[in-house]
Amino acid sequence: MKRETVIVLDFGGQYNQLIARRVRECNVYCEIYSYKTEFEKIKALQPKGIIFTGGPNSCYEAGAPSYTKEIFELGVPVLGICYGSQLMMHLLGGRVEKAPVREYGKIEVTVDQKSKLFGGVSEKTICWMSHNDYISQLAPGFMASAHTADCPYAAMECEEKRLYATQFHPEVLHTKEGQKMLSNFVYGICGCKGDWKMDSFVEQSIQAIREKVGKGKVLCALSGGVDSSVAAVMLSKAVGSQLTCVFVDHGLLRKNEGDEVEAVFGPEGEYDLNFIRVNAQERFYEKLKGVEEPEQKRKIIGEEFIRVFEEEAKKIGAVDYLVQGTIYPDVVESGLGGESTVIKSHHNVGGLPEYVDFKEIIEPLRDLFKDEVRKAGLELGIPEYLVFRQPFPGPGLGIRIIGEVTAEKVAMVQDADAIWREEIAKAGWDQKVNQYFAALTNMRSVGVMGDERTYDYAIALRAVTTTDFMTAESADIPWEIIGRTTSRIVNEVKNVNRVLYDCTGKPPATVEFE
Ligand code: XMP
Repeated sequence: MKRETVIVLDFGGQYNQLIARRVRECNVYCEIYSYKTEFEKIKALQPKGIIFTGGPNSCYEAGAPSYTKEIFELGVPVLGICYGSQLMMHLLGGRVEKAPVREYGKIEVTVDQKSKLFGGVSEKTICWMSHNDYISQLAPGFMASAHTADCPYAAMECEEKRLYATQFHPEVLHTKEGQKMLSNFVYGICGCKGDWKMDSFVEQSIQAIREKVGKGKVLCALSGGVDSSVAAVMLSKAVGSQLTCVFVDHGLLRKNEGDEVEAVFGPEGEYDLNFIRVNAQERFYEKLKGVEEPEQKRKIIGEEFIRVFEEEAKKIGAVDYLVQGTIYPDVVESGLGGESTVIKSHHNVGGLPEYVDFKEIIEPLRDLFKDEVRKAGLELGIPEYLVFRQPFPGPGLGIRIIGEVTAEKVAMVQDADAIWREEIAKAGWDQKVNQYFAALTNMRSVGVMGDERTYDYAIALRAVTTTDFMTAESADIPWEIIGRTTSRIVNEVKNVNRVLYDCTGKPPATVEFE
């Protein structure tokens, strides 16, 4: 069955993924393609609508990202946003030039409520603007449908050809009624019905996997993180005991995490799959002995993980399929989808199939954004505490212990982290911050306990708010919670006599310590 699809044509804007997510929030499937994608390919996709993104360039400059004018003749509705709106005007005979007044921030826009794009939107509405160029003259056949004090053409349209454009960004939350506008576009203008629903996605995926795999053998590296857990459950529902999940406990997991993963996926759990837990703690600690340099630690953990996984895979023998928990942002960020710059590739423990004897990879979550993966997880009946897990790095506590990793230090940071997480959750702050954990600084300092001098370690607490983890802010956790956590840590965790709170944002720090 063909899914109705809206295409985002990416001109290098920073909000490209956001546009696609907002469209999907309208229950319409949406994919991102670079402006370099051939017109024939776009045409063959038979989109219900096309959205041009913003971008950093000036469309009238030589070499600026552009597209063939034929796209406006397809009869498919097009919405141009920011750079996309300027490009539309430029290509169709309007004029774009440097704006006399640069608009940036939340700006009041007056809209023409008769426009299909603005049906149900307030006449005066706050929108997010960020532009140096402006449209000084409309293309023939277009009429203005919104303006601001400084921008005569804040939105424009040619209803007959179903071409729409906004100088502002409807996709960002600062545009108060932006979601309404996007919904007007995909429903009222493109005529979508909204067939992108997680329950049917899950059902159809299970069916498709079943047909593909037949009686084949499937192998999955399970980390207990959201993506691999959702992928594993989907596979187990599709092919049951033909699936084997290998869970490598590298001894760098959070407190009790290994047992929690086993409780869900192991023999006592409710899924019909073969679960292999490899307790490889000692091997990892041995390899990490004496190693202090962060990158070297990351490398060792990553490589050792592959070795362990490979050994297990050899025992299982040749498999037909290997499952990977790749999600849509991975696809876009690795440059396969849109046009945005490649973002630093994190070392992910897991995956890396070259060493394993298999025929094909299955990536059941390849089309999903993170919030959709969580929705799919809930559809599949995975417990909420797993579905809403905060991110946890592949190298685990290995990069939350500064300097050499030892079993004793792992225990210290596990205990402190468990207390911090418990106190944050108890106070309801787990809903307000995006990631929080304890790290072990390698610093020892003098303290006093009873009448005794101590010379012990300092724990650092971290809590950040962020939308994309590329930048982050240190969260202003109430002093009371920090205080309570501090006294519990120094009382309950051996060899710790000091607790510090990390007030640094990213940049200049990173979220993790190494
Ligand atoms: P940084 O420290 O780079 O972290 O500011 C940003 C986000 O990425 C997570 N992170 C990782 N995730 N493998 C992962 O899967 C890694 O090697 C890794 N390093 C950092 C980090 O927890 C934060 O959410």
